[in-house]
Amino acid sequence: MINNKYYIETYGCQMNVYDSELVANQLKNIGYIETKNLETADIIFLNTCSIREKAEETVHNKLNNLEYLKKKNPNMIIGVLGCMAQNLKNDLLESKPFVDVILGPDSYRKIPEIIRNRKQNLNHVVDTKLSKYEVYNDMFPSRKEGINAWISIMRGCDKFCTFCIVPFTRGRERSRPIESIKKEVEDAVKNGFIEVSLLGQNVNSYLTPEGDFTYLLEELAQINGVKRIRYTSPHPKDMTDDLLYVMKKYDNICNYIHLPLQSGSDKILKRMNRTYNSNEFLKLVQKIKAILPNCSLSTDVIVGFPGESEKDFNDTLEVMKIVEFDFAYMFKYSSRPGTKASQFSDQIEEELKQERLLKLIDLQKKTTLNNNMKLIGSIQDIIIEKKSKKSNKYWSGRTEGNIWTIIKDSGQKIKDQVAVEITGAEGVTLFGKNINFEES
Ligand code: 5AD
Ligand code: SF4
Repeated sequence: MINNKYYIETYGCQMNVYDSELVANQLKNIGYIETKNLETADIIFLNTCSIREKAEETVHNKLNNLEYLKKKNPNMIIGVLGCMAQNLKNDLLESKPFVDVILGPDSYRKIPEIIRNRKQNLNHVVDTKLSKYEVYNDMFPSRKEGINAWISIMRGCDKFCTFCIVPFTRGRERSRPIESIKKEVEDAVKNGFIEVSLLGQNVNSYLTPEGDFTYLLEELAQINGVKRIRYTSPHPKDMTDDLLYVMKKYDNICNYIHLPLQSGSDKILKRMNRTYNSNEFLKLVQKIKAILPNCSLSTDVIVGFPGESEKDFNDTLEVMKIVEFDFAYMFKYSSRPGTKASQFSDQIEEELKQERLLKLIDLQKKTTLNNNMKLIGSIQDIIIEKKSKKSNKYWSGRTEGNIWTIIKDSGQKIKDQVAVEITGAEGVTLFGKNINFEES
């Protein structure tokens, strides 16, 4: 039998990476194999993102480049999956008629059936119904090699931050049963993964009749072979003391929290509907540092939200200076049609947004380097993940705090957990030497 081939390209967040792995597994189950070559693919799926305008533009450009392939091979199936499918189905149907399949994030279960029926039905297939229940409980992903397994534990978001399209594209919050998550973690360990990263749009809102996020974390930390657990992204409002104490109790739960700030101005936080003010955020940071003294922190920040004055922006800089995050993802506000903030009349000009973004990046670069410099001389626990990009005489691995660290290859292997003395810091990277290493 000639194998049919699929090609999947993923845009956006880790949840999309995970969903693409779910889709890939389903395609494999019906006899498809992966190709990295678009020209030879029978199915091309783009798993898309709508979080900012630029993400959507990238996908539109990619789709325009695919039209010629469809002309060459009319039997090919071109599909748009994910948030853009959800968000822009009518627009896609109109402007890109060569797209055969449009599936929102809750419709992936239907893929095998859609492909089977394709020969009888050459019409467009559109399914963007959002579900209150779908958590892909019984579907498992086809993972690429590596040390880290991403595992989706909840989907959707009920927070409705006014800038964010996610509650509209991914629907309501729902959590996957603990047993199904445990099984996926155990299988991942059996397949050689030693690190687990729990995923959810609001990961710490996780709640099932069996337990909450803290309970889940504690259950997973006790599974044999799980050397590290991370999770992303929590909402500051749902960070409980219990959660911090469980992080403290288990060595294999990384001392690392990605804690999205979004803005340091109380006025803007309110308009964003973030449900905390800067003081509450700072108090939370203090508490984290008190319970988990070496905890690394990263964040997300948006500049140029509608109505952001010079003072509001300075308030953000101020909070960033106080917290000294180890790392930050920084964005210019991008107006998303359908969200509340897109209707605010006091939108900020592009130039000013850009200016503020550069200022913020400049501050953060210094903070990151400064924090990393402070680690020089310390001993860090590193798990070796891959060869360094610059030279194959060096390994790259991450600290518990998620900082990439380069060490010399002196016979270690991928997945080795080694003690490294930090000797230098450059940009966002650490350099170090493996102490007491004996070849195993
Ligand atoms: N514009 C800019 N950044 C956004 N994010 C979410 N929506 C927008 C938007 N409309 C950022 C937030 C979020 C991260 C995943 O993306 O900072 O935490
Ligand atoms: Fe978007 Fe806010 Fe939900 Fe995060 S918490 S996905 S930023 S609405």
